[in-house]
Amino acid sequence: MMTKVIKDIDIAADEIIKGNVIGLPTETVYGLGANALNENAVLKIFETKERPLFNPLIVHVSGIGEFEKYGVDIPDEVYNLAEKFSPGPITYIVKKNKIIPDIVSAGLDCVALRIPSHKMFREVLFRSETPIAAPSANRSGNISPTSAEDVLSELEGKINYILDGGNCEIGIESTVMSFVGDEVKILRHGAVTKNEIENITGKIRDGINGKIISPGQSKNHYAPVTPLYIVQDFENLQKIKEKRIGVLDFSCYRNMTEIALNLYSDMRKLDTGKFDLIICRKVKEQGLGIAINDRLQRASRGEMKLIDHELKVEAK
Ligand code: TXA
Ligand code: MG
Repeated sequence: MMTKVIKDIDIAADEIIKGNVIGLPTETVYGLGANALNENAVLKIFETKERPLFNPLIVHVSGIGEFEKYGVDIPDEVYNLAEKFSPGPITYIVKKNKIIPDIVSAGLDCVALRIPSHKMFREVLFRSETPIAAPSANRSGNISPTSAEDVLSELEGKINYILDGGNCEIGIESTVMSFVGDEVKILRHGAVTKNEIENITGKIRDGINGKIISPGQSKNHYAPVTPLYIVQDFENLQKIKEKRIGVLDFSCYRNMTEIALNLYSDMRKLDTGKFDLIICRKVKEQGLGIAINDRLQRASRGEMKLIDHELKVEAK
């Protein structure tokens, strides 16, 4: 199969209608999309990225009017948040309507809904007239793609088309929120920060600490092939000569938004640089920094320290 990078939205919408999978741009990261109402098409998503079937997919829709078609008993809080943040980088998990095939939600009775803001993705939604299930367009476990070229390097030969919508304007995935059960929770920190959410909902719980609630939230994820380590002693470790060390350095960026924007593409670049290892330092655990640190933690193999001139690793 030849994979073509295209800009033609009609071709992209046609692929969705035909039940094929396609690389699609969103404002967060690129997605691997298919018609969410077509079980076979959705199965192709799992096969293409070798994603385990127990990890559910986000269903992308064009507006809040669609929420009640695919979700049931949607609480007011969802609409309050959507008014402020959707279209945009936030995902709402609500009770699932039967119309969504079980394969989409990995058999769970809840479904993740998101209204993306990328213009081209929205056009594809309008023209195909169907909700689109889409995980990030990387092979399972790899770094999420933030450009059409990144998708090509992940999935070349496995899909017909990638719709090129330029570089993603945010660079990390959406914030995933759960509205099932008796409490509102954040399952994955993302582009919309906890503070911004709490300004609308009041205090909420972090559903992440401790046990895994979102099936896809395994500890290892979004990782480069080159071992990446978190370090405290950043300056000294950079000086080690015996090993070729790639440095994931954020000091050139002005703020957290810029770090998020460049995080995955910088990781990808370093990963092709033939280094023995990559080191990075966590950012301030605040605002968008929480999501950035979460991705660094997942990408890393643990913390590395220099003890008596020897590198020691504390596995995570
Ligand atoms: O920004 C994003 O969210 C991107 C773009 C393409 O929209 N998508 C994305 O999808 O990051 P994915 O599949 O890579 O991550 C979605 C996360 C996974 O951790 C998955 O387990 C969780 O959301 N999730 C999806 N549906 C769920 C459900 N019904 N219950 C619990 N967790 C769910
Ligand atoms: Mg992903």
